[in-house]
Amino acid sequence: MRISYTELEAKVRGMIKEKRFVHSLGVASVSRMLADRFSLSSSDAAYIAIYHDAYRYSCTESTPDFCRRAGIEVFPEEEAEPMLLHGALAAIHFPGDAEGDVPDYFRTAVRHHTLGHKEMGPYGAVLYIADYIEPGRKHLDDDDRQKILSGERLEDMIITIMDMQDAYFRREGIKSAAVSVELYEYIKAGGTL
Ligand SMILES: [Fe+2]
Ligand SMILES: [Fe+2]
Repeated sequence: MRISYTELEAKVRGMIKEKRFVHSLGVASVSRMLADRFSLSSSDAAYIAIYHDAYRYSCTESTPDFCRRAGIEVFPEEEAEPMLLHGALAAIHFPGDAEGDVPDYFRTAVRHHTLGHKEMGPYGAVLYIADYIEPGRKHLDDDDRQKILSGERLEDMIITIMDMQDAYFRREGIKSAAVSVELYEYIKAGGTL
């Protein structure tokens, strides 16, 4: 047994800033919608979503070592910028905070929500997309949202998001993480999540 969605939501509210909490509510709402559309469990998707950023403000210089000791592979970009490991921290703490077992696919989804990963699974895909398009995100307009949501599959939406992100990264001189490029190429080659 684990605590209910409502209990988890109340707990997360006390762990993060109000603005981040409102973002998480938006991600949960979009995740429910996507899960319904793709015949996944909307309650599982919302449970994952409300929790995904619970450790957003908890990363320190020691987080990479902490994650490795917990058996999590740390990617070079995360080593350089430990804040990127907040999803890994959430994966580690999920059963403790949920006060009971959570399925592996819950933990995999939160672990990979920032950089994406070819093994993030359908719930990871839902979270990745919802995190990018939730209504509070100001970097997108309604046309961008429509363009993403017009994808026939979750994988198509991820490609659209990564193309948009790539354009932004290029302008800002940011290099995509190797694991993100690997996800992109995996989907382009016909891989499914
Ligand atoms: Fe995040
Ligand atoms: Fe987020």
